Amino acid sequence: MSTTQTILLTGSTGLLGKGVEETVPKGWRILGIHQRDYAVAGSRIRHLPLDIRDKSLVDKLFARRRFAAVVHAGGIASVDYVENHYAESLESNIVGTLNVSSACRRAGTHLIYVSTNAVFDGKAAPYRETAPVRPVNKYGRIKVECERLVTETNPGCTIVRPILMYGWNHVVTRPNTATWIYDKLLRGERIHMVTDVFENPLFNLQCGRAVWAAVRKKPQGVVHVAGKDKVNRWQFALKVAQVFGLDAKLVTPVKSSFFPGIAPRPRNTTLATERMRRELGVAPMTLEEGLLHMRSAMRVP
Ligand SMILES: NC(=O)c1ccc[n+]([C@@H]2O[C@H](COP(=O)([O-])OP(=O)(O)OC[C@H]3O[C@@H](n4cnc5c(N)ncnc54)[C@H](OP(=O)(O)O)[C@@H]3O)[C@@H](O)[C@H]2O)c1
Repeated sequence: MSTTQTILLTGSTGLLGKGVEETVPKGWRILGIHQRDYAVAGSRIRHLPLDIRDKSLVDKLFARRRFAAVVHAGGIASVDYVENHYAESLESNIVGTLNVSSACRRAGTHLIYVSTNAVFDGKAAPYRETAPVRPVNKYGRIKVECERLVTETNPGCTIVRPILMYGWNHVVTRPNTATWIYDKLLRGERIHMVTDVFENPLFNLQCGRAVWAAVRKKPQGVVHVAGKDKVNRWQFALKVAQVFGLDAKLVTPVKSSFFPGIAPRPRNTTLATERMRRELGVAPMTLEEGLLHMRSAMRVP
């Protein structure tokens, strides 16, 4: 008799989803769901197009299948898109999360909700899990509401808060800081990177490992998931240039005021990672370690 257990992963085609897919432990399987109907080239898991805003579709899925845990990472996650498409983003995140969270409660399935560092205002880093939330943009406000919603509907749930993530994404999804910088520098294009926004960036495979640890250990409440190095985006770009042997002279440092049209960003949301180490058993990785891993797993264009 097979002892393989299956988790449901929403947002399976996203960057976090790819990290979870690539770190699947022995004895576990993923059913992934995402929104649009497309084939995911090179993926080893089953991805089902299913819009989580549609309660009847979510309920039907839970009526057909039982899951060992649900990792809910699906929804609109681009800070600037949310700022300019608020109503659509509310539906995607609030309605989608309510549907998934309610289905978990009724099925008695452990929920791991994926939140963000954007719940903080960036004025009191490094942030522990107990720090008060104070978002500065619409994306952060929506994620705070989602955290409240999942805690109300599933008091025993886990809330994982990853920070700025990087890694090779599925080609069908949006680029991330590392792939965007890499693609620009490879084409010899000049880029402007800000010096006044700090994070401890997270490699998506390391995030995947933390998510799997949460699936197995089911810690209750918030767990911060982040990397080891505090860097600004300019330092991030220089490290990408160094690791991939690209031209660092193409990178110009600027202040955030250089980009007046974008959503407000918290200045320093570096996350404390003690709970991640202690309860998930996952050590933070340096930016260089993550980028070297990317280099050794170079995608075929
Ligand atoms: N990326 C980061 O740097 C970062 C940092 C902190 C926290 N997070 C959090 O991590 C989670 C995952 O982020 P990500 O960067 O991996 O996301 P992403 O790359 O933008 O991908 C979003 C995923 O959600 C799916 N989705 C969107 N709307 C949906 C709907 N209505 N029904 C079903 N699926 C839907 C998308 O499917 P389609 O492709 O089919 O549209 C895609 O699979 C999010 O909760 C985000 O807030 C991300």
